[in-house]
Amino acid sequence: MTTQQLSGTTAIVTGASRGFCRGVAAALTQAGARVVGVARDAATLDEVREQLGAAFTPVAADAADPVVAGQLIDTYQPRVLVLNAGAAPLARPVHRHTWQTFSRNWEVDVQHAFHWTREALLQPLEPGSTVIAVSSGAALRGSPISGGYAGAKATIRFLTAYAAEESRREGLGIRFISVLPGLTPATRLGQGGVAAYAARDSVDVATFLASRGPALTPDQVGEEIARLITGPGHDQDAYLLGAAGLSPAP
Ligand SMILES: NC(=O)c1ccc[n+]([C@@H]2O[C@H](COP(=O)([O-])OP(=O)(O)OC[C@H]3O[C@@H](n4cnc5c(N)ncnc54)[C@H](OP(=O)(O)O)[C@@H]3O)[C@@H](O)[C@H]2O)c1
Repeated sequence: MTTQQLSGTTAIVTGASRGFCRGVAAALTQAGARVVGVARDAATLDEVREQLGAAFTPVAADAADPVVAGQLIDTYQPRVLVLNAGAAPLARPVHRHTWQTFSRNWEVDVQHAFHWTREALLQPLEPGSTVIAVSSGAALRGSPISGGYAGAKATIRFLTAYAAEESRREGLGIRFISVLPGLTPATRLGQGGVAAYAARDSVDVATFLASRGPALTPDQVGEEIARLITGPGHDQDAYLLGAAGLSPAP
């Protein structure tokens, strides 16, 4: 899909009220798309609407609800889905988790990616559509004080690759791509992770961040995801995303 083809079409972006996907919503509206942004808190979504204008339609809903996924895809017939909604994990070592806290990212992040991916294949979305699922660099390395977070994010990468394979097998022409961002203090979820890992290493946050190099920002995430949707040459199923941009995931 070129920028011209994206312009005038609809993108649904989950978790669009703050963090990474506020940046994605901004980049896609700038590229001429209508963006339907889903998050639970209506007031924060309204702020995004004020910022981005009429091209942004706020929908206050739980993205992990299968009825929400089905209804919004039926209603808006999107050409782009960005599946980014995610719960902030409870930052504790594994033995301090209960099953309920350990599995939170499965119930929210994985469940939501599953419902929307399934709907995209069943509909099916128009040939040339793109579905981007936000995983995490933690899917490669683990995340020892985030309960089931890393495993959940690895499953989102698998799920997206399975969907890409089904799309190829059925000749649907829908691209399914997972993006694995690095940890960054630029979002609420990331701030919690950075603070927890700094404390675990017995260093202050500034020292922890200095050891990691430049941090990814929501604006960069927006620009890179827009490039992934519209730019040529992105033929991989999964990409790492850091401050230096996208690179194929190992
Ligand atoms: N920040 C990082 O360092 C980092 C690194 C790698 C991967 N990631 C991943 O990137 C994604 C975005 O993270 P972020 O850092 O931008 O987090 P964030 O600032 O906490 O934003 C999360 C967004 O998801 C929404 N959300 C959460 N649960 C939802 C639900 N059940 N239904 C609908 N919306 C929901 C939130 O809005 P409401 O609370 O109003 O619903 C918010 O808009 C997540 O999947 C995260 O795991 C983040």
